[in-house]
Amino acid sequence: MNMRLDVVTIFPEYLEPLRHALLGKAIERNILSVGVHNLRDWAPGVHQAVDDSPYGGGPGMVMKPQVWGPALDDIAAAGMDGLGGQSLDSAVPHLDNVRHDQKLGLAEESSYAGAVGAVDESDKPLLIVPTPAGEPFTQQMAQEFSHEGHIVFACGRYEGIDQRVVDDAANRYRVREVSIGDYVLIGGEVAVLVIAEAVVRLIPGVLGNRKSHEEDSFSDGLLEGPSYTKPRIWRGLEVPEVLLSGNHALVDRWRRDQALKRTAERRPDLLETVNLTDRDREALEH
Ligand code: ADE
Repeated sequence: MNMRLDVVTIFPEYLEPLRHALLGKAIERNILSVGVHNLRDWAPGVHQAVDDSPYGGGPGMVMKPQVWGPALDDIAAAGMDGLGGQSLDSAVPHLDNVRHDQKLGLAEESSYAGAVGAVDESDKPLLIVPTPAGEPFTQQMAQEFSHEGHIVFACGRYEGIDQRVVDDAANRYRVREVSIGDYVLIGGEVAVLVIAEAVVRLIPGVLGNRKSHEEDSFSDGLLEGPSYTKPRIWRGLEVPEVLLSGNHALVDRWRRDQALKRTAERRPDLLETVNLTDRDREALEH
């Protein structure tokens, strides 16, 4: 299993955390390769403007299609091989800020998958555009995305990206506009970190213990209940007796009850999609 992530942003340093911790480990083990690209490398002119005022008026700026179009073309063309850029595959950042025109040679040498003839839809890379106007990101989407070979993230800033970029990209990508929650961030970068972490941890071999994500909150539709470790008594607070009983059936039942109660309290909306047994209903009534 191998996954490639490419991120296009005007703030490449924002994506630094991708090389740390779990994702860094996946990179070292060659399960994952990551390329971070500066959108300005595709911006013509001395000022390298990437945005302009919106048609129809209104506040803010919109990111220019003439900059985004070629960036997404080049990255799609380079495919899984990756397009120079700032690779995050080593612990030491190599800040080779080669300009995009110098890097083109690299793209042309690489296998130009999908350039000729009919393209099978499933061969197209997945383009994720983080936006508060997107479909809500869920654990189920993370699960789906974890089977992808090549995911490209397009980070918009300001008031977003000219919609024609997204519409046109559908020729070369399967496109999803995704929101990580009902709040507005300054740009898509942090959303990319969130989505990448949720996705990469589900790739087999990334988490040591396979079970650990099968039992996550959400995988059974419920929030996870409380957890405890040693010591048994801390600051006068005791670990619930049942967890020390050694009776696995009793422990499982207690954990399920705790998950049900917590979900009812914090996310009653989730309960509507869970198949509740009579025993579950009883637990919820007490
Ligand atoms: N960009 C700005 N806000 C966002 C959100 N909530 N989700 C994804 N991308 C965003």
